[in-house]
Order: sequence, then structure tokens, then C-alpha cells
Amino acid sequence: MRTLIKDLSSAKGEQVVVKGWIDVRRDQGKMVFLDIRDVTGKVQAVVLPNHTEALEIAQKVRPEWVVSVTAQVNARPPKNVKEGVINGDIELEVLGIEVLNEAETPAFDISTDGYEVGEEVRLTKKYLDNRRARIQRNIKMRHKVNLFIREHLNKENFLEIETPLLTNPTPEGSRSYIVPSRVSPGTFYALPQSPQQYKQLLMSSGFEKYFQIARCMRDEDTRGDRQPEFTQLDIEMSFVEQKDVMKVNEDLLIKLVTELFPEKKIQQVPFPVLTYKEAMEKYGSDKPDIRENKDDKNLLAFCWVIDFPAFEKTGEDNVDGAGEWTFTHNPFTGVKEESKNDFLEKKNIGEIISTQYDIALNGSEIGGGGIRLHKADELKKVFEIMGYEEERIEKNFGQMLMAFREGTPPHGGIAWGLDRLLMILLNEPNIREVMAFPKTGEGKDLLMQAPAPASAKTLRELKIEIKK
Ligand code: AMO
Repeated sequence: MRTLIKDLSSAKGEQVVVKGWIDVRRDQGKMVFLDIRDVTGKVQAVVLPNHTEALEIAQKVRPEWVVSVTAQVNARPPKNVKEGVINGDIELEVLGIEVLNEAETPAFDISTDGYEVGEEVRLTKKYLDNRRARIQRNIKMRHKVNLFIREHLNKENFLEIETPLLTNPTPEGSRSYIVPSRVSPGTFYALPQSPQQYKQLLMSSGFEKYFQIARCMRDEDTRGDRQPEFTQLDIEMSFVEQKDVMKVNEDLLIKLVTELFPEKKIQQVPFPVLTYKEAMEKYGSDKPDIRENKDDKNLLAFCWVIDFPAFEKTGEDNVDGAGEWTFTHNPFTGVKEESKNDFLEKKNIGEIISTQYDIALNGSEIGGGGIRLHKADELKKVFEIMGYEEERIEKNFGQMLMAFREGTPPHGGIAWGLDRLLMILLNEPNIREVMAFPKTGEGKDLLMQAPAPASAKTLRELKIEIKK
């Protein structure tokens, strides 16, 4: 029976089997000290001269070798007790060591926080990097956050529903990754930039309260707070208004921080609400950093930003190739009551205010959503304002118009950038640090060596020719 390292302290005087990695080895000739590590913690072990067979192996083992150790759990003499350290009150006396696997000398030091190691090296051997204490903590906290969200939303009667990854593009202002179909050569799936259309179609489906911890793919330039593949907490609700969605999210964020990050302090509750105009005038940003003390690393200043313009002039990065105007967030966002007339009459376009709300934390946009349009004629108006031809509207958004004509309730929702939120909660400088297998700045997975050329056979099957 294996004993986990975290449970050793309550096994004083017993003989145990511990399995894990050699963390540190200190050879003092006559005896060897080993720090042994498993997923639950570390413990110091000593191999004494009278256990000759174990001593011989202990002199051979090296950091990162995987071992199974039979040992006696001894209480440390009071003067040697390390206060506040797990297993600081015990020491293992090793009786036998079995080597389960050897390890080459690690390519980099994993005993440090790792910020000093080059990105290329870390990502090429990410499984090694993942063993360092900081990454172990981050990934474990990520698990706890996911679990907390699931349990909380379940209690609030939300259903977690998975939506397809092989689909058609949903515009979120970025480019989609595409996947060729073998069965219908010359046609392509798109990977979702978000589950936006599906979650709205789930409201058309009568599920009323949906959430998903959803993977999203966006072909855009990677930055410190942006990855080509990232995770959203995606939420949609029927029969709600702006304040209802904001309340659900605010409650969840406050509970999550209080429960899982007790060292953090939320600057202001309820979260302050700024209009887009106020945020721009006062802070020069639509994701304002409203912290009273920017040096306090435990201060969390959440704020909502509302009343965004619904449309903006198409710029050079317009990936949709539309007309003079484009949506500021996504085409499904509704417009405020006071802008309804202008919207329906397609006038004063630049002044139309949307029902979009964003949530910012310490100067980062950690989420955004809105109350949606749910009537077909109104959704069509958006595309007309954007200069889409009737044919293009039907082709790209026919499914939404169809569903909207067949009893779709009023609805709205939000999505959090879960990686970004975690990055801030864990005081990390980059979202890569909260992901087990992130990609480089060029969108590469250096461990799996993706993306990579496809084989000639695959290309033949897909009827794809690569132009040199
Ligand atoms: P939006 O595009 O604003 O909205 O995305 C929601 C949140 O996701 C995070 N985010 C990212 N995180 C990491 N890497 C990226 N490349 C990346 N892009 C976005 C941000 C952002 O606030 N469907 C709508 C939501 C809705 O209306 O309900 C949407 O995707 O934190």
C-alpha cells in the first residue's frame, strides 16, 4: 500500500511505502539524504550505513529518478523540527529503495520558480517544467477554480452542455482555424472562436440556463494575455436583463475569490459600473485599472463597463470584408432601448448604444457579454448596417434567423477569459503560466511540434495541393 507524502505525518512509528521522484540528493559518504517528492508534497529521507543495500542504490540515484521507497516514519527530535513546513516534524529512515525509472540529467533546474529559464527550453520539455512547485500550484488551483464554478452554477440550476468544435465560423472579430473535410473534399469546418451561436441556439432549445468551460480557438497574434487556444467560462440565460447576468457573475466571482483566494482583497463590492464614455474619459481605457494601490499584489479591483457603441467604422484589421460599419463586439448583441429607433431606422449609427457589458480586473478585460437580439428582423438589421447582401446574411446566419423565427426567448450571457482571470489571481505575468501545455508567441506547440506538414497521403485524401 502506497502512502501519500502529505499523509506521512500521521503515520509516525509506522513502516510505509512512498512512491515519487528524487527531488534532491545529498551524499555524505557514510549516509545519504534524499528529498522525495510526489504530487502531494515533499519529505526528507535518510539512508543510514546499516542498510547497506539501500545505501548502495541511494548513492546511484539522481534527481528526477522515480523510486519506490520502503521506510520507517520517525518523529524528529524537538530541536530538529521545522515549523510550518509539511513533514517538518518527521523524517523517513529508508529501509529499501526500488528504482522504477531512471532519468537523464534535467535540461533545466526545476527547483526554482523557473522565470529565469528560456521559454523555448521550458516549452520543449513542458512535462519537466510542470513538475516545478509553482506550476504544480497553478494547475491545482485551476482545477479547484473549475470545480468551484461547476458546483456553484449547478446549485444555481445551470446545465453544463458541450457544444461542437467542428463547426462553421462564428465571428468574434478574429480569424478562425479551419479543418478540411475528407468526406466532402474542398469543404472545411471552422474551429469555434467561442460557442456564441451554439449557446444562443441552446436558448432556442429551451435549456434556459447554460454554462460550459469551453475551449476557444482564434487565429490571432499571441501576446502575454492571449493564446490561440484558450478557455472561457461561457454562460447564457433566458428571460434575463443586463442586471441579472451581472448579478450571477458578480456573486460567483466574489464567492470564488473569498473561498479559494482568501489572501486577496476585493476593492469594492458591489463592483463599480462605468459607462464606456466614463471609462475612456477618466482612465483612457475600456478596461480601466481602478486599483487604489497598484503595488498591493493582493488587491483585486473589478469593474463593469457598459454602454459601448454598437458599431464602429471598419478598420484595416477588418477580417470580414464588410462595408463601412462593423459590430464592436459581436453581431448578436442587442441595442439599448434609447437607441432602438436609430437602430431600426439605420441612422446615427455611430451613436447607437449596445447592451454589451465587459468586466475588467486590474486593467485586464476578463470577460464580456450582452443581452442579445432575439428577433430575426433585428438581427438582419445588424447585417444590413454592415452592408451585407441578403444572400450573405442568409448563408452565414440563416440558422440564427431561422431559430429566431421559431420561438427563441429573450436571452443574454457572458464569457470569462478563464486563463486571464487565473493569471491575475495567481499573480502571474503571462497566461502561459496557468496552462499545462501553452503555445509559444508564434502559436507553436514545441513539445508536440505542431503545427507540422501533413503527409502526402493525407493531402491526397483531402484533395489538397500545397503551393510552394
Ligand atoms: P470575447 O471575444 O470578449 O467574447 O471573449 C471573452 C473573454 O475571453 C478572453 N479572451 C482570450 N483569452 C485568452 N486568449 C485569447 N486569444 C482570448 N480572446 C478572448 C477575454 C475576453 O474578455 N462570445 C463572446 C462572449 C459573450 O458575448 O457571451 C466572446 O467570446 O478575457
